[in-house]
Amino acid sequence: MEIIKNPDAMTAWADQMRARGRTISLVPTMGYFHEGHLSLMRKAREIAEEVVVSLFVNPMQFGPSEDLDRYPKSFDQDARLAHEIGASVLFAPGSDEVYPPGFQSKVEVAGLTEQLCGASRPGHFTGVTTVVAKLFNMVKPHFAVFGKKDFQQLAVIKKMVADLNFDVKIIGQPIFREKDGLAMSSRNSYLDADERKQALCLYQALQLARQKVAGGEKNAAGLKQEIFRFIAASGKVEIDYVSIVDCRTLSVCREITDKSLLALAVKVGKTRLIDNTLLKGDS
Ligand code: PAF
Repeated sequence: MEIIKNPDAMTAWADQMRARGRTISLVPTMGYFHEGHLSLMRKAREIAEEVVVSLFVNPMQFGPSEDLDRYPKSFDQDARLAHEIGASVLFAPGSDEVYPPGFQSKVEVAGLTEQLCGASRPGHFTGVTTVVAKLFNMVKPHFAVFGKKDFQQLAVIKKMVADLNFDVKIIGQPIFREKDGLAMSSRNSYLDADERKQALCLYQALQLARQKVAGGEKNAAGLKQEIFRFIAASGKVEIDYVSIVDCRTLSVCREITDKSLLALAVKVGKTRLIDNTLLKGDS
């Protein structure tokens, strides 16, 4: 596996691979790999001949009071894991290379970015779409693989790709969970033992909601309230949102259909966690 830090070198590598007729898949990450990241890399390896894993903690997608400075890092271990999975390249540019002095452009997707995480993290999705657009131009992938835990991010990126005619196929992969159901996230490393237990309320809430729907619940507002109360009663947590939305448009559902998705964002201690599930069928 090559480690490439310079964007021009990355593009030169991609041009060479494309000239040889090789297909490229990209797994964009911010590092501190867990099994969820590895599952994205395995998928990427399945669908293309060359896998590029990017590792860049993107300052543009963090708000001023967020965790940019303490975001967990483990470069050597990440490089070893990406190598073991069979990645061709670990692309790890520095901040100055992604955003050189004088950088002034932004990629913004309207409509899908104001609600849910966008409401409490203004500017976050613009940071994400800007860096992902840049990564697409640097790596020139045929495919890019993203996790469904960040389902809003996935929807926003798909929209950007469609609207701006990027020639990249976006693949969404299922949420990877710990044995007890907690969705894997690099931010889980912030949780102390008590918070780790508290954090399970997200998964339990998703399960409860699916049970209610399987039992005949059709009213989205009623279910939302019930789930809100369940989470609020489960300890010292701060609910950012409990929403039931159409998974394609992210608009609020009145009635539960097979496209309805329950999305949660909850602060446990100082750690903001998100999770989601479709309310019917396979999630
Ligand atoms: O999901 C993430 O880790 C980040 O938002 C991404 C897609 C790598 C962009 O920085």
